[in-house]
Amino acid sequence: MERAVGGMLLLSLFVTLLVLPGGFAKFDISTNGWNEHRKFEVVGNEGERRSPLKDAVRGDATGVAGIMVTISESGLNYAKEVLVNEILAEITPLLLPDIKAHVTSPIGRVDMRISHIELSGANVSYSDVDLGKTGITVFAGDIHARIRLHWYYEYTATYVPFPVNDGGWADINVNGMQAGVTFTLVAHNGTLRLTVVECGTYIDDLDIELQGGASWLYQLFVNAFDEEIRAVIEAAISKRVLISAEQLDNYLEALPRFLPIDDVSAIDVTIVQDPLVSPTFLSVGVRGEFTSLGNSSNFTFPDHGLQPGLFCSDSSKMVTIALCDYVINSAANVYYEAGFLEWLVDELPQESWLNTHFWRWLIPQLYKKYPNMDMALAFACSGPPTVQLQTDGVTANAAAELNLLVKTDGKSLPVACISLALSMDAIVNVVSNNITAEATLNNLNLALKWSDIGNFPVNLLQPTLRTVISRVILPILNKRLEKGFPLPVLPAVDLENPDIRYEEGYIFICSNVYYKGGIIKLPRHHPAEIEKQLL
Ligand SMILES: *[C@@H]1O[C@H](CO)[C@@H](O)[C@H](O)[C@H]1NC(C)=O
Ligand SMILES: *[C@@H]1O[C@H](CO)[C@@H](O)[C@H](O)[C@H]1NC(C)=O
Ligand SMILES: *[C@@H]1O[C@H](CO)[C@@H](O)[C@H](O)[C@H]1NC(C)=O
Ligand SMILES: *[C@@H]1O[C@H](CO)[C@@H](O)[C@H](O)[C@H]1NC(C)=O
Ligand SMILES: *[C@@H]1O[C@H](CO)[C@@H](O)[C@H](O)[C@H]1NC(C)=O
Repeated sequence: MERAVGGMLLLSLFVTLLVLPGGFAKFDISTNGWNEHRKFEVVGNEGERRSPLKDAVRGDATGVAGIMVTISESGLNYAKEVLVNEILAEITPLLLPDIKAHVTSPIGRVDMRISHIELSGANVSYSDVDLGKTGITVFAGDIHARIRLHWYYEYTATYVPFPVNDGGWADINVNGMQAGVTFTLVAHNGTLRLTVVECGTYIDDLDIELQGGASWLYQLFVNAFDEEIRAVIEAAISKRVLISAEQLDNYLEALPRFLPIDDVSAIDVTIVQDPLVSPTFLSVGVRGEFTSLGNSSNFTFPDHGLQPGLFCSDSSKMVTIALCDYVINSAANVYYEAGFLEWLVDELPQESWLNTHFWRWLIPQLYKKYPNMDMALAFACSGPPTVQLQTDGVTANAAAELNLLVKTDGKSLPVACISLALSMDAIVNVVSNNITAEATLNNLNLALKWSDIGNFPVNLLQPTLRTVISRVILPILNKRLEKGFPLPVLPAVDLENPDIRYEEGYIFICSNVYYKGGIIKLPRHHPAEIEKQLL
């Protein structure tokens, strides 16, 4: 399974923008001289209207967000910019259905047909995203498009013995087209459902240039076809947008609800609430809990989660990913329960620790009873470590046991057990979209749990055990933490220059994003198929 598609964060945003060019749909834009400062208002064509805004669907999700992704205005603008062009490239060329018309007059009848109508390219010089209570509106204005078509006419009259006909090509510049689409994103069955509420297009001006043909034809042609061509472009684009939106909705529906991490765990990335759409940001919360792929876990997820709209203060970064401490604690719990927080150290290339000789002054009885014998050290957490996130950093506490084993007659014989209370500091980082960490030992408290070799003062072992833990145990743990786990962002998106900020109970990853391209791959339709869909 690709972690890619994992139920994600930036997704809602990008999805949004996928339908953008779609924007060229069948709108009536209630505008008399629309300008950038005026809010885009869409008046749906009654016949086309899918559902009135006031009935916009509500999602069905309930739950607690352990990870909250919030896209800021700069993030929305970036996404809009990069995606508009990608979408345009994806939907053009667009083949439109043929149009027929006839004109009857006292002098006879002219039958006209235009065919091979192809919208070959389009430019958008202005676009905007509006996050409103009723939905997300993506608007593109001042769109210029180019259309090429073939025209043909046949003139018949009773006194003309045979029909007169002619044909040729025409180029049309579509000027000042405005398009917009409004849709809602709600949580549904663990993922997002995208529903188009309105979409529409308005064409300012068609600049028609006939190649060949008599001059009288021009006005006839314009009279017969101007409205038709506008209508066909509007309908075609509108239809294309709705098809794209439906494809996206299906794609969202098919997203996995769990991101597998390794053989042990997966992150539950179900979307827990409807995205919060505010005028300046969009927040999507996912559960974020680590779940075991094997045994069910004893971890109880708290009943309160991160609130939408969490931002890194004083940051103009595009996204803020907030990660709650219990996400990390659920991971600790799963790995503890799966037996991954225990290590047997019985081979160390350079150290002398694994022989009783090393311990001869620290634990004289051990050396006396088992002189110069090989040893092993068995380290095991005795409960899941707990991680606290605070404004001054990350700390983790763990209770563990260290068994001293002596190798005798090919067996490892436990001779003493020391209880350890460890407190560690950790530094969090983001590497290639993974959140990673590195732990260092802070406090270490020791107590003798049991011993077959008599009592010995464990505090004398402090410096040695600190060294053993720092040089042997923590490197094993850090090797895993260094890989980290993936943050739920799309694989087509790289986090750039992320800053980590520590807060009470959660951390912020404030980051810009770089879109590598390739999210938008609408299936290529055979022209005939498109035509069929349009009719
Ligand atoms: C798009 O813009 C470029 C340069 O601004 C221009 O050369 C091209 O013809 C335009 N395309 C359309 C379809 O208007
Ligand atoms: C919910 O999603 C699952 C896939 O995760 C799917 O199998 C199921 O049919 C969906 N249920 C509804 C009611 O859509
Ligand atoms: C879960 O908790 C029960 C009772 O507290 C305990 O017996 C069991 O071992 C725990 N399971 C795991 C996998 O730790
Ligand atoms: C399930 O629990 C058993 C015993 O506690 C453990 O040995 C095993 O590794 C666990 N498996 C997973 C996948 O957590
Ligand atoms: C990110 O985390 C996953 C899961 O731990 C791991 O498989 C992957 O190698 C990590 N990626 C990087 C670049 O470290």
